[in-house]
Amino acid sequence: MHVKPYSQKTGTKKDQVREMFDNISPTYDFLNHFLSLGIDKRWRKKAIERLAKGKPSLILDIATGTGDFAIEAQSISPEKVIGVDISEGMLRRGRVKLRKKGLLEKIEMVCADSENLPFNDNYFDAAIVAFGVRNFENLLKGLREVNRVLKPGKDFLVLEFSKPSGLFKLMFNFYFKWVLPILGRIFSRDTRAYSYLPESVKQFPDGKDFMDYMARAGFQQIKAQRFTFGVCTLYSGKK
Ligand SMILES: C[S@@+](CC[C@H](N)C(=O)[O-])C[C@H]1O[C@@H](n2cnc3c(N)ncnc32)[C@H](O)[C@@H]1O
Repeated sequence: MHVKPYSQKTGTKKDQVREMFDNISPTYDFLNHFLSLGIDKRWRKKAIERLAKGKPSLILDIATGTGDFAIEAQSISPEKVIGVDISEGMLRRGRVKLRKKGLLEKIEMVCADSENLPFNDNYFDAAIVAFGVRNFENLLKGLREVNRVLKPGKDFLVLEFSKPSGLFKLMFNFYFKWVLPILGRIFSRDTRAYSYLPESVKQFPDGKDFMDYMARAGFQQIKAQRFTFGVCTLYSGKK
């Protein structure tokens, strides 16, 4: 059973996820950096550094949202990044940001579903996704689609929230379960979005379980690196 953003409403998880991100798109960037105390930027930066060695020319950024991961990928100077997302609201915000940064030539934003990508097989030199896979309706189908459009031997990176361990876990769970939903509700005016966040992280198959999903989707040399006591994990694999 999926955790869905609006548990009282009907509609598929995908429809509800799209609606939720359309709703919170105006405050998404501000809340992201504010609620994570800016640490999310460091996670994206560390992830992209991993791609530098392979010098990818064409990168796919899945669930690109307002484009922060695609923008961070500019640090390794790819020819082009194509970002896909199901929320037009998020993409609209993203395009405004790209225009301001003069990146419209470098990053293309396409409204598309990660579980049904509009690209040929073996097309991209790298694929990346930050905080997106947790929202997929069908995780395995989405990962298989990424595998299909990636060239053989090329890198796939996934940044996703995970469950921290040790003493830090108690502090973090308090913040994540009680403080964050209240602040999120006040600033985003969406009563559910920032409650769905901890609920979906709790239900998400992280760590070894997610690595198993990657393997079932056809990836090899799968590794995981935990950031910030395991609040976030960077998974990597090759097609
Ligand atoms: C938490 S945001 C992450 C955005 C961005 N990657 C970042 O790092 O800030 C998750 C995004 O995933 C998108 N998303 C969820 N399911 C998707 C799917 N099946 N296909 C494409 N995008 C999807 C949502 O619309 C949302 O913009």
